[in-house]
Amino acid sequence: MPKISNNEVLNIFPLFFETNLNEKGGISGIFEKLGKIFEFTEVFIYYVNPESLQLKYSFNDYSNYSINSTFPFSTRQKKLIYSEDNYIADENNPIIKTLKIQGKDCNYAISKLIIRQTVFGILVLVRNDGQLYTDEDLAILKTCSCIISYVIKDLELSNVFKIQLKALKDGIIEKNNAYKTIKEQNEKILEADKVKNEFLANVSHELRTPLNSILGFSEILQNGMYGELSSKQKEFVDEIRVSGLRLLGMINEILDISKIEAKAMKISRSRFSIDMLYTEVCNVLAPLAAKKNIRMIKDFDEDFEIYADYQKMQQVFYNLVSNAIKFTPENGEILLGAENKKNRVILSVHDNGIGIDPKYHGKIFAKFVQLDSAYTKKEASTGLGLTITKELVELHGGKISVKSEVNNGSTFIIDLPVITGGQ
Ligand SMILES: Nc1ncnc2c1ncn2[C@@H]1O[C@H](COP(=O)(O)OP(=O)(O)O)[C@@H](O)[C@H]1O
Ligand SMILES: [Mg+2]
Repeated sequence: MPKISNNEVLNIFPLFFETNLNEKGGISGIFEKLGKIFEFTEVFIYYVNPESLQLKYSFNDYSNYSINSTFPFSTRQKKLIYSEDNYIADENNPIIKTLKIQGKDCNYAISKLIIRQTVFGILVLVRNDGQLYTDEDLAILKTCSCIISYVIKDLELSNVFKIQLKALKDGIIEKNNAYKTIKEQNEKILEADKVKNEFLANVSHELRTPLNSILGFSEILQNGMYGELSSKQKEFVDEIRVSGLRLLGMINEILDISKIEAKAMKISRSRFSIDMLYTEVCNVLAPLAAKKNIRMIKDFDEDFEIYADYQKMQQVFYNLVSNAIKFTPENGEILLGAENKKNRVILSVHDNGIGIDPKYHGKIFAKFVQLDSAYTKKEASTGLGLTITKELVELHGGKISVKSEVNNGSTFIIDLPVITGGQ
């Protein structure tokens, strides 16, 4: 017989729904309410643990009875569950045996926890006063286990939500932290890059000043202004000039690339003749060409004028012509061209040197790229020349391209928009 009247039982039913999980994830509130309705010395609820995804799980934080911590309750062991949803059992019942809760004068009421026809747990009441549970007990127990089934599922679900929410929060925090670290590192790299560029710009500038004296004074010596030189002296002074020029080229490249990367490169246009530009570049590079007996030929009809940044264009042709000299064997030829084509100015540097395999045409304009050849090994160089050249041409709104094949010379073509201005 239940401890209380049916009316009182009806008052307790709604209280089951107010059960919360305690801090251990326990549902002691349920046991406490069952204790108000039924006579029992022990009570057990077993249900499938959704987190471990194991089909066995024991649950009881109300009883002090020492029992198996897990119960092999699984769909595969359905034989342990009788066909009825609720029944009275004795110590021979397989569930009672499995639970090892047999005792003298013990009687048991077993009820299944079912949701949508699926058994997911059992509820067991144990009394050791020699009294049997009654049909009335069973009828109320049936309603209780029905309510408890929903309460447990609901708690489980909210628990799963909590776990998912936590995982989501952890994930977001982790992502935010990673993002913060990347951002900080990125800022450090940018800062370091800025410092490096400033350093390079300063150092290259300081290096250029003494180098200009080396070049200037060796030229004065070479011209014989202060007395004729012996042929050996001439040879040495020549070597000083050539090495100085190469060094100047490299320093200029480092200076230019750091300016480009610092986005400090601005163009200032003026009107000048291509002839003047080519002549000056050829004059500067004449000692390098002479060393290999390479002829530099200006190959265009018209007296071209363009409106561009003179110094930058000088740098462009200095780079292209010095490459042409570097990658052309002795006695070679370099042609400097210029023509008008449909409102564009096409300037070109052609050589009959070692050429470039078309598969590298896209690569050579990238920073530090140097193709493997006897020529790149022989002379120290930066691999920056074409990168700078491309940048300078693009600053003018133009494009640079290459036509070349291995052993068949190279032509670098600069295609500039015609810009009117200047006198
Ligand atoms: N006229 C050319 N003939 C053959 N190869 C060239 C020529 N110009 C450039 N290259 C190739 O492109 C590479 C990149 O050129 P560049 O950026 O000026 O670097 P660097 O002259 O310092 O080697 C060179 O190392 C070379 O392999
Ligand atoms: Mg170069």
